[in-house]
Amino acid sequence: MKENTIVLYGPGTIAEIHAKSLSKNLGVEPVRLVHKIFPDGESYVRIPEEALRPGNRIILVHNLEKPQDKRIFEALLVAHRLQRLNPAQLILYTPYMAYSRQDKEFLPGEAVSAQALLETLHNAGYTDFATIEIHKPNTLSYFPGQAVSLDPFMPIAEKLLDNGLGGERTLVVSPDLGARHRATRLASMLGSPSDYLVKRRDRHTGEVIVYPKETPAKGRHIVIVDDMIATGGTMARAARLLLNQGAETVTAAVAHALLVKGAKPLLDCGIQKIYAANTLEPRSNVKYVDVSDYASQQILEVFYTS
Ligand code: R5P
Repeated sequence: MKENTIVLYGPGTIAEIHAKSLSKNLGVEPVRLVHKIFPDGESYVRIPEEALRPGNRIILVHNLEKPQDKRIFEALLVAHRLQRLNPAQLILYTPYMAYSRQDKEFLPGEAVSAQALLETLHNAGYTDFATIEIHKPNTLSYFPGQAVSLDPFMPIAEKLLDNGLGGERTLVVSPDLGARHRATRLASMLGSPSDYLVKRRDRHTGEVIVYPKETPAKGRHIVIVDDMIATGGTMARAARLLLNQGAETVTAAVAHALLVKGAKPLLDCGIQKIYAANTLEPRSNVKYVDVSDYASQQILEVFYTS
């Protein structure tokens, strides 16, 4: 079964790293997609001949990070061409799923981008979908085929333990109630207690308010865990609150360090270190943990054991 798998990968170092790791676990050679951008900005993709075999299981590793609209369209182009091969299964594996945070209509009339994207990918021919630590796991139910969110936190937990965190003196905190499951998960890996804060985002301005809440932070090493840091607003506000409550140190642990423009100065608020999975092109001042092998093993478990 594994021998009939073709691992194709798109542009960028992240797609390459994850494709190589997946291929190693599958015992196959990865195939790089021929990709270029025309002078007018349009994308060109070509599937190399060695991957043009009919009836195979094909996994496209293609990271939907910036320029995300272009990457998404390229994924559609690839699926469109691969349809002619009648693949037994066509899996899209994107370490980072763009557009995942708009998972419902918060304000009337909003387009639900996560749903639109997942449905469009399926309509284009992807039978299965995998990503790392999606913002909310139930978003995957928008994808009509098999869809999975892979855990990146086990390798991150190992790194935190190596750096002296963990045990009773560490407290793992999620910046909002809805993400409490993440704090519980990481806390159990670290053998530490967990807690959560309460956050609200203004749906018009995007501004984040983290409400005051008593936590057992005093004298503890705090690990704030979240799916991503984007503007840094959530992480910075949570860190300030916990430092004001007497936390000894604050460390951030996230799946995706998006760190958009303006995030860095905001995060310069006493956060000791930022750990992130390697799901996005590297940013400065982030300690990356390579989760590609662990993610690949989960892909094998989900797609190859049934
Ligand atoms: C939102 O609910 C997410 O879990 C993150 O907390 C959020 O996306 C972080 O965004 P920012 O860094 O812009 O506050």
